[in-house]
Amino acid sequence: MTDTVKFENTVTEVNEGFVEEVHSIEDIDSATDFELKHTPNIELVELASGQLIKVTIGLKGISHPQTEEHFIEWIRAFDGDEPLGTVAFDPSITPYAEFEVERSSSQIIVQALCNLHGLWEARV
Ligand SMILES: [Fe+2]
Repeated sequence: MTDTVKFENTVTEVNEGFVEEVHSIEDIDSATDFELKHTPNIELVELASGQLIKVTIGLKGISHPQTEEHFIEWIRAFDGDEPLGTVAFDPSITPYAEFEVERSSSQIIVQALCNLHGLWEARV
């Protein structure tokens, strides 16, 4: 697994040498359930030292399956182009990740990989 990301492209390296198209929702009001259930949900909590980034998968109450056949493999986050870390899941674990960042003017970017449906991204 690697944190290498090429944000200027519409594709991103996800696992060593393996590249995926980056999916994201353009318009939340016209998003499909398929899009909603794959998209990272980002909650920012203000801390004295910075911000806590809490991530679940799925928007508007639509959650992604987590089974042997179909599951979220990992969640990773970036502060701008700076990797904050990656949290991996096996099919028995509900995907949830927390990252801490010092207060930053950069955009927070969160990506999640579904084993069947590829890479999904949200930004705040
Ligand atoms: Fe999926």
